[in-house]
Amino acid sequence: MKTAPVVAVLGYPIHHSKSPKMHGFWLDQVAVPGHYIPLEIHPDNFESALKNMPKLGFRGANVTIPYKERALEIADFVSERAERIGAANTLYFDADGKIHADNTDGYGFITNLKNGASHWTAKSGPAFVLGAGGAARAILDALITEDTPKIYLTNRTKERALKLAQEFGDRVRVIDWDDKNTILPDITTLINTTSLGMNGNDDLGLNFSLLTDAMTVTDIVYTPLETELLKHAKQQGCTCVDGLGMLIYQGIPGFENWFGATPVVTDELRELLLL
Ligand code: ATR
Repeated sequence: MKTAPVVAVLGYPIHHSKSPKMHGFWLDQVAVPGHYIPLEIHPDNFESALKNMPKLGFRGANVTIPYKERALEIADFVSERAERIGAANTLYFDADGKIHADNTDGYGFITNLKNGASHWTAKSGPAFVLGAGGAARAILDALITEDTPKIYLTNRTKERALKLAQEFGDRVRVIDWDDKNTILPDITTLINTTSLGMNGNDDLGLNFSLLTDAMTVTDIVYTPLETELLKHAKQQGCTCVDGLGMLIYQGIPGFENWFGATPVVTDELRELLLL
């Protein structure tokens, strides 16, 4: 008899990860047998632990901080988008024990945006990305794949933005952090990928009066769910999309592959993840 598929999320530390809760919820929802567990792996043991997972019978894994880049290096096969992003978050193990790495963060971002703002299309106008960390990289890749005509990028540390822009070509234009308000009248989509706004942290220094009801605004911060940015954007009449959905939708391709069923995003799941 075949045993139920087992999948793990690997990180160090791992206690903060919401993935076990989310996949556990979906396993109950679709009523297929399976297990999804958190594994805290010390950096010294990561490579051997990952390489042995297929032999132990794992079906796949998610990887989180600090392993997204190392997982990509260790994998036997890498998807094009994971290669472009330079990091993996979702791993599949095939029947020969080979490790396939993918990155579904950009997919999660775009799917969340499309679900939260039904009229939104990347082609409708320029986007403005605040921040140049790992999340921004996946989001830039997704925006370019969706054919966003122009992307403005700004970051407190300008060198990081310049480096990222260089990797993604001439559609991306870097703006000085202090000049961000000058760009607002020209954009249709505003995306915060910085940690500013998390738990009432410092503000972004945006002149909210420049936001209009023609704009879609999204924040990858979801604690609080309604960040200062989203609160002000809502007051300005913008279409607002919170960041919790990015976390949720990035999990769907992995779940489908490992467990062979399509999960549904419900309010109950959103509430559970916010606990
Ligand atoms: P992630 O992988 O989640 O994107 P990260 O790589 O640590 O995380 O990036 C965090 C982002 O938040 C960066 O763009 C960072 O700006 P710097 O590159 O200048 O560090 C931004 N950030 C964090 N704290 C900030 C602050 N107080 N003011 C402005 N930007 C900040």
